Amino acid sequence: MADSETGQIDNVMQEDRLFPPSEQFCQNAAIGSMDDYQALYDAAKNDPDKFWGETAREELHWFEPFDTVCNHDGSHVEWFVGGKTNISYNCLDANIAAGNGDRLAIIWEGEPGDTRTLTYKQLLTEVCKFSNVLTGQGVGVGDVVSIYMPMTPELAIAMLACTRIGAIHSVIFAGFSAEAIADRNNDASAKVQITSDGLFRRGKTLPLKDTVNAALEKSPTVECCIVLQRAKNDCAMQAGRDYWWHELMEDASADCPALPLDSEATSFILYTSGSTGKPKGIRHTTAGYNLWTKKTFQWVFDWKPEDIYWCTADCGWITGHSYIVYGPMSNGATCLMYEGAPNHPAPDRFWDVVQRHKVTILYTAPTAIRAFVKWGDEHIDKHDISSLRLLGTVGEGINPDTWIWYHEKIGGEKCPIVDTWWQTETGGIMMSPLPGATATKPGSCTLPLPGVVPVIVDEGLHPVETNHGGMLCMAQPWPGMLRGIWGDEKRFQEQYWSTFPGNYLTGDNARVDDDGYYWIMGRIDDVINVSGHRLSTIEVESALVSHDKVAECAAVGRPHDLKGQAICVFVTVKDAQAGEALRDELRLHVRKEIGALAVPDDIRFTDGLPKTRSGKIMRRLLRDIAAGRQAAGDVSTLEDFSVLAKLSEDQE
Ligand code: WTA
Repeated sequence: MADSETGQIDNVMQEDRLFPPSEQFCQNAAIGSMDDYQALYDAAKNDPDKFWGETAREELHWFEPFDTVCNHDGSHVEWFVGGKTNISYNCLDANIAAGNGDRLAIIWEGEPGDTRTLTYKQLLTEVCKFSNVLTGQGVGVGDVVSIYMPMTPELAIAMLACTRIGAIHSVIFAGFSAEAIADRNNDASAKVQITSDGLFRRGKTLPLKDTVNAALEKSPTVECCIVLQRAKNDCAMQAGRDYWWHELMEDASADCPALPLDSEATSFILYTSGSTGKPKGIRHTTAGYNLWTKKTFQWVFDWKPEDIYWCTADCGWITGHSYIVYGPMSNGATCLMYEGAPNHPAPDRFWDVVQRHKVTILYTAPTAIRAFVKWGDEHIDKHDISSLRLLGTVGEGINPDTWIWYHEKIGGEKCPIVDTWWQTETGGIMMSPLPGATATKPGSCTLPLPGVVPVIVDEGLHPVETNHGGMLCMAQPWPGMLRGIWGDEKRFQEQYWSTFPGNYLTGDNARVDDDGYYWIMGRIDDVINVSGHRLSTIEVESALVSHDKVAECAAVGRPHDLKGQAICVFVTVKDAQAGEALRDELRLHVRKEIGALAVPDDIRFTDGLPKTRSGKIMRRLLRDIAAGRQAAGDVSTLEDFSVLAKLSEDQE
């Protein structure tokens, strides 16, 4: 049967390199062998109530104990029912009670080079004061607070203040337009807006408050706006609505006990773009989310109290929520937070930061790693980055050759790499190597974490064979899972639960190899169907990226009379001559790497690829361009409009 009939996907990528953790790493790791991993995995799978009940009692502070570990009925899931806890308490008060109040919680560096540190005690004081500021503005349990701020400590303070008093935060990445803010504010009925006068980006000041002013004209539910003074640029303040952060903080009391909240109380909503239609507000809760981020942080990063941990994401994304603020802080970790661009004032900024702050764990995205490869090794060679002991990636698949570069150039061949697969919806990491246990394979997110039970099915909902791709689903609930889409139960059901009833549909394709390792093959909508063979985008792209002259690549299908679809690839080159000769070279290279089937029909060179603001390639827009159509659908999340304009022009 052809793949197009079963909906299975061909696997054309062959990757045999295997990197076991060093003996030394294993010896010092909390989970130091595959036997340890397997024991944990089995315990969570065989008796989830016992496993998660005990873990929750150990890891979280309970104002009132829960009486049921988990209730679930299809998409309706509740964890730790009847219990009361507080995320802000678990991140702050609990660390202080454990004697770690003087440990640094945040080491912050601004783009201009200014720095600031906050111990857990100092952070608690700021959070309590800001909680009282919010209460003073009439914010109470269940009210939505919209946050549109630069990566400053105050962004984390605002988030922790909301969760302290039971307010629901909705953080909006500070690169979105006024229109996008207003849409999100209206969807959530936000009551208060928090922002700053401006933010620094590549040496320029961006006027955030001007953007917010325009958004608030169309956000009728927002009653007040609190403005952090960051860039000291002029901005219009509306009397009676707008207040300066520092003025309100002056009189605020530092006494604000954390409010006991129901396990299932909504902690935050975070908007994520659908490929079409309006953005959806993913809704997370209190106890389950807190526990999931806390445990996964321990497992995946093998965190130790002396680590200096740096996650380069922005708090505007789920990675920032779960692995800058809530996961690390509920463990008492020291987190580095950086405000600006990776190439300001020069392309060595990250390595300069790593060296000066002696960063030990670095968690970043493939899009950033590909940029570092393109910028050249000389920027890394200038710095001593030997403090690093563990590396992570998230957000997209990592091409094996990019992985190898990360391993050699940044990891000095000694740091394990954790390729973490997860989603805004999953709350935290779902599949990842455990650095002291799992032998890694470049390009694979390896194995599910304890509590994660994946299944991969074809379009007929039959489990696929080993090494064949299909739809990745989750057969069992886990504590960190989303509980809904804000105000849109119908979309929640349709999107995640109706395709394979009783199972959560991730929207990604994946395959399992002979060793039981998972390989993510891209979004379900991105599959390319050539002559009845279904190919995954990442495999075609990885073949091209393994060519020395290619920096980045995106593969999409376009309609073709005979084959169904033809493969069109968009390629950015390192510093090579893009032209017919290179096209021939690349065709040959793909033929050699994966075979004739995957040889691209069109190879289009470009200076840049359209990406979301969090760095993911927007293949949907490229599909339109490849087919000679006007790029349609929601483009509000596009990072750089000029890239799209340029690609569309090239075609005329
Ligand atoms: C993709 C980010 C391959 C995937 C935490 C997923 C990945 C989507 C990986 C979620 C990875 C994320 N390997 N693909 N390690 N990590 N993805 O909601 O398609 O911004 O469904 O959450 O990113 O993106 P989101």
